[in-house]
Amino acid sequence: MVRDLRGATSRPFAVNLWVPHDGEDDPVDLAPHLARLEPFYRRLGVEPPRPAALPKFADQVDALLAAAPPVISFVMGVPPRWVLESAHAKGIAVIGTATTVDEAVALEQAGVDAVVASGSDAGGHRGAFLRPVEQSLVGTFSLVPQVVDAVRVPVIAAGGIADRRGVRAALALGADAVQIGTGFLATRESNASDVHKAMLHSDAAKVTVLTRLFSGRTARGIRNGLIRELAAHEGEVPPYPVQNALMRPLRKAAAEQGLADYVSLWAGQAAPLTEPRAAREYFAELVRP
Ligand SMILES: Cc1cc2nc3c(=O)[nH]c(=O)nc-3n(C[C@H](O)[C@H](O)[C@H](O)COP(=O)(O)O)c2cc1C
Repeated sequence: MVRDLRGATSRPFAVNLWVPHDGEDDPVDLAPHLARLEPFYRRLGVEPPRPAALPKFADQVDALLAAAPPVISFVMGVPPRWVLESAHAKGIAVIGTATTVDEAVALEQAGVDAVVASGSDAGGHRGAFLRPVEQSLVGTFSLVPQVVDAVRVPVIAAGGIADRRGVRAALALGADAVQIGTGFLATRESNASDVHKAMLHSDAAKVTVLTRLFSGRTARGIRNGLIRELAAHEGEVPPYPVQNALMRPLRKAAAEQGLADYVSLWAGQAAPLTEPRAAREYFAELVRP
């Protein structure tokens, strides 16, 4: 992918990795979790999965250092010192993602070159790592200026920015750049499933919630049937990556069958501002003076 991107653009780009959390590789008794999901596997006509271990973080980093993209960005934690040193030795810039001021400071102290300040409006996984997610739900408008005050490295504002007004507001708050997820998810070129895109442009996008049900880590998405049916089990599902693996066949089958109720419909709070259009057109609008 890095090679293809280099061929496609002379501009810098980032490849993103998730920093693993302690205990992620601990064995989990799958039986109760498979039993909980059994009716869903049956409903969608898929076999219950046998989760395989993820590639080791160190191997992911080694592969990425060998491919040497211009930027490596991290979410979910502070990248280990050897990763930062190896990246910098190869001239690769490193970006970290913070959901609180304390996380931004920890990332700067570790030596990252820029920090994403990701407010709780954001779609998908934000990756709080110093405190539990419930204590890290700072909105973008509150978070960005505080991070700008707390660190010297450039700050990239993320979360709930989906149009030109949001970009200008983030820059007015002192951000040096903006990171947009949901808005690009909604563009023609994105890899989101058709059903996901359709939901982003429906009334359903007005209600997004935080849930662990799809991956084992808290993420924001459009409330759908699965979230409603399993609401009582939010606290019981196994951690990432186990729950993510148990849900993968459901998500895949649901996307193929166009069943919005079982797809992880990741979306931020600004989803209703998005439109189905070409990325080029969207980008031109975002940066219009
Ligand atoms: C479907 C989806 C997947 C995402 N995956 C990642 C990821 O793997 N790593 C990451 O750092 N951020 C990820 N994000 C977060 C985005 O990089 C970005 O910070 C966020 O979407 C900004 O908020 P917005 O959705 O309101 O624009 C994801 C967001 C979405 C919507």
